[in-house]
Amino acid sequence: MKIFWQRFRARLWEIAGGVNIRTKILGIVLGGTILLSLTLIIQVRYSLTRVLEDELRLQGVSIGRDLAARSTDIILINDHYALRQLLMETKANNQAVRYAFVVDPKQKILAHTFGDGFPEGLIELNQVDGDDYQNTISIETSEGLIWDIAVPIFNGQAGTTRVGISSQGLEGILLDITSQVLLATTIVLALSLLAATFLTFILTRPILDLVNAARAIGRGDFSQRVRRYASDEIGELADAFNQMVVTLEKADEVRRDRENLRSQLLKGVITAQEEERGRIARELHDSTSQGLTSLMVGLRGLDATCDNPQVHIHAQELRQIAGQLLDDVHSLAVQLRPPVLDDLGLQAALERLANEWGIHHHILVDVMVHLGSERLPGTIEIALYRMLQEALTNVSRHAQASSVSILVEGRQQAIVAVVEDDGQGFDAEQIHRDGRLGLIGIRERADILGGRVMIESAQGRGTSLFIWIPLAEKVNVITQGAEVVE
Ligand SMILES: Nc1ncnc2c1ncn2[C@@H]1O[C@H](COP(=O)(O)OP(=O)(O)O)[C@@H](O)[C@H]1O
Ligand SMILES: [Mg+2]
Repeated sequence: MKIFWQRFRARLWEIAGGVNIRTKILGIVLGGTILLSLTLIIQVRYSLTRVLEDELRLQGVSIGRDLAARSTDIILINDHYALRQLLMETKANNQAVRYAFVVDPKQKILAHTFGDGFPEGLIELNQVDGDDYQNTISIETSEGLIWDIAVPIFNGQAGTTRVGISSQGLEGILLDITSQVLLATTIVLALSLLAATFLTFILTRPILDLVNAARAIGRGDFSQRVRRYASDEIGELADAFNQMVVTLEKADEVRRDRENLRSQLLKGVITAQEEERGRIARELHDSTSQGLTSLMVGLRGLDATCDNPQVHIHAQELRQIAGQLLDDVHSLAVQLRPPVLDDLGLQAALERLANEWGIHHHILVDVMVHLGSERLPGTIEIALYRMLQEALTNVSRHAQASSVSILVEGRQQAIVAVVEDDGQGFDAEQIHRDGRLGLIGIRERADILGGRVMIESAQGRGTSLFIWIPLAEKVNVITQGAEVVE
């Protein structure tokens, strides 16, 4: 029982919660009015039936008494014809009278209103003592309920009048009243529905406004304000809502300023870093490499001018070390600032980076770069180069992959880069929370350019890194709305 009740409540709640406010209010009005009218009809019918029945019975008794009084003389002079006339007249004058008859003290019929044949057993049904005022019984017949009223004539010495009062007329009256109540209900219902429709309109309109405004604000449009329609609770809600929007707008402005500042700072840091790297690379090339080259030339001269075999061996060793150092310095300088990026552009630089990396780490590389002939802005070139450099470093350090495919494609308004390895993969969500610097660096570079980064990876199923960089002018504007999709 308890479970049934709970289920019933849950179902009711589901239905009530599933429909809109308009349906709810209209439903309440409709249900309430119908319930009220049904109760009214039942109540009115019940009380009215009782009152009318009582009334009818009393009327029957008075008809019976009247008949008894008027028939006394007629019976005494034994005028059966006149007696029958009296009965017929009474029946004709009273709609409720179904029949009337008179019996003598021995219960023998003197006159009756039944045309053909007197119903059997009717006489015995009702009897009255000479001292009694009257006696009423009710008889269920195929025509409905009939009250049979017996009234003694001349204290029973002249016989008894019997009158049958039919309740059929009552049905008509009740039907009449019921239809009147129904009519009234229909009119009230129509008016209430009209009023309810108006009420729901008043109620739901500001709510719908609020919903629309909230949706717009959710999309970042803080210019939305809602109208205060009335000074009720909904009006107060509108005020509070508008107040909230103002606060949100201010907070958003602050956030945007901060974001701008952060992105400016990052840009500055990265530019400074690149400049510094370039400077060190140039320094290494111009000064250190030159120095080392001079050292090697000097050592060769020393070797040539000296006959001492000991010095000869030594000088050879030193030249080898210097040569190794020169190579190291060169590759360091290239890493710091790949001259090919400046000289031949991103496409060549990326191809060389990927191929050299593959040879160095013994990993199969499939590199496809389609960037067109036009050079990209310097910031984008260096950022993409660094991002792919970090991606490849990650593959060699963490993935244990046997092959990598790199695709860089310049589309109409954006550049898309995908680095896909067949390594062991990792839980990108988890790493994001750990806050390692490599991937964060990739994201931040993309962020500054208004781009996005997406990592798809799972344990044992390789890793795909997607980078999307827009080529639009309004980089910073895009950065505001950009969110890094995981
Ligand atoms: N291609 C990859 N394959 C497998 N794991 C990777 C890959 N790239 C990144 N990871 C995982 O993500 C972590 C974070 O990477 P990153 O932010 O570059 O930091 P770091 O390289 O310094 O560890 C790595 O430690 C590694 O576990
Ligand atoms: Mg890394």
